[in-house]
Amino acid sequence: MTSAYKIIEHKYDMVVVGAGGAGLRATFGLAAKGLQTACISKVFPTRSHTVAAQGGISAALGNMGEDDWRYHFFDTVKGSDWLGDQDAIEYMCRNAMAAVIELEHQGVPFSRTEDGKIYQRPFGGMTTKYGEGPPAQRTCAAADRTGHAMLHTLYQQSLKHDAKFFIEFFALDLIMDEDGACRGVLALDMAEGTLHLFRAQGTVLATGGYGRAYFSATSAHTCTGDGGGMALRAGLPLQDMEFVQFHPTGIYGAGCLITEGVRGEGGILRNSNGERFMERYAPSVKDLAPRDMVSRSMTIEIREGRGVGPHKDHIFLDLTHLDPAVIHEKLPGIAETAKIFAGVDVTKQPIPVLPTVHYNMGGLQTNYHGEVVTLKNGNPDTVVPGLYAIGEAACVSVHGANRLGSNSLLDLVVFGRAVANRCAETIKPGQAHKSLPASACDKSLANFDKLRNANGSTPTADIRLNMQRTMQNDAAVFRTGGTLQQGVSKIREVFKSFEDVKVSDRSLIWNSDLIETLELQNLLGQAVVTMVSAENRKESRGAHAREDFSKRDDVNWMKHTLCWLDGQGSATIDYRPVHLSTLTSDVSVIPPKERKY
Ligand code: FUM
Repeated sequence: MTSAYKIIEHKYDMVVVGAGGAGLRATFGLAAKGLQTACISKVFPTRSHTVAAQGGISAALGNMGEDDWRYHFFDTVKGSDWLGDQDAIEYMCRNAMAAVIELEHQGVPFSRTEDGKIYQRPFGGMTTKYGEGPPAQRTCAAADRTGHAMLHTLYQQSLKHDAKFFIEFFALDLIMDEDGACRGVLALDMAEGTLHLFRAQGTVLATGGYGRAYFSATSAHTCTGDGGGMALRAGLPLQDMEFVQFHPTGIYGAGCLITEGVRGEGGILRNSNGERFMERYAPSVKDLAPRDMVSRSMTIEIREGRGVGPHKDHIFLDLTHLDPAVIHEKLPGIAETAKIFAGVDVTKQPIPVLPTVHYNMGGLQTNYHGEVVTLKNGNPDTVVPGLYAIGEAACVSVHGANRLGSNSLLDLVVFGRAVANRCAETIKPGQAHKSLPASACDKSLANFDKLRNANGSTPTADIRLNMQRTMQNDAAVFRTGGTLQQGVSKIREVFKSFEDVKVSDRSLIWNSDLIETLELQNLLGQAVVTMVSAENRKESRGAHAREDFSKRDDVNWMKHTLCWLDGQGSATIDYRPVHLSTLTSDVSVIPPKERKY
């Protein structure tokens, strides 16, 4: 049956899957190092989800006040609720300044200060003097379209370095050999309907997050975690999937992002009494507390009857007191978004907002070189040969249990560059490819063929909606043992219902029915792993807030979750220790303490 498919073979030194910020930074870095590099992407590169990033990229440049990368390191460790690996956090924060200056030199049109330096705004959880000083102005911004500016620049750099792009190609599966090494990826050219095997010495997954497992997310509809789905099918675990970030300010109803930069510029969250309630929850930093805390505070206000609107089910983000010139210059994008999606003029009316799924702290376990590592023979840091992951698809882990805003754009470029440097050290351009057995693609083809011809009775969209509702209800801002146990059993049922999926279109050319089904398969695996990992972790840490275990428990739970999934939806959990060590003596380990702002 599967031999009916003809496969077109390509050989490269490296293949990068995904053309967002991380994928493009890796792609041009690899190409610049002389490695023949193909980048495959299911969307045109400048339509990747990085385009939607608004507020900025963090780096302790100190353009607008005293700053130091060590303060950034401290804030990131504290923001992670001590689940982040401190060696990787050191690597990211000390490389941040060079990464931003590199972007500036490549042409990112950053906003400017009066004296021509890169403009930097305050963001949640970013402080000075190891939390004792005033808020840091650390987030480098191109108005409120920083991701857009970066993505275009990074694509131009990739073209300049002659990387080869395969656009509107959907990656189906990793091709793993009998020794557990990754040898490339099988992909579908969605426009032509042809299958392509990309053989490579190294495969970099830069496929982004899986926000669309939830009903309401700031993520694009394309954010279906295809890398994580492929990894699970390849028998690899995903790490820390219970940590899902809710951004405090998604537009009520529509879910579109309203940047944290609004609060950085002076915007205030208000309840139905008009009260600036964050003063009660985070007296020192108020509206600029980290996202997990702000989302919880908003949820409590709503639960206690102080929500706004006819159903008292959301909160107002007020920027009517800001000078309209600031809005025009620094926040033009959100003014437009608020007009279109909430019907408000932000100079006169508050924006209705609600915590909305925004980011996945979990993903493929990697080291700070971007190499995928896994637990093997008792060693949790065993490198999976030939496989790399970066960006939101990866869990380095620099964000631990809660990411600070503007550390994501930084993570993309720092680790995109790191993986290119690592591969340039370890892979020789033009190295001969080891032979692959004729059956290398059989398992993937069988799955593809089964889904293409799936003739059950439940449309893809129905299963997707059941999954999204279950995740939204049972793996929310606050969780309890009861909701999580219910969530585990419901999400398992939804996973099982995929056996009965109905694909109506059998063609191979631009078959969006089939692509959505393949994406749903990727989402479903990650939804199960998220729910199971959340039910398993019996403490509260960062974005994982359990009402039945309301305290952080460092004795039992200061460890990363690793979760595997088999084809029947059955999960296996193990752990690996948090790295409580730094790379150099330029900075000291931050010992765990209570996280207060
Ligand atoms: O609010 C924002 O602009 C989002 C930034 C981020 O997630 O880093």
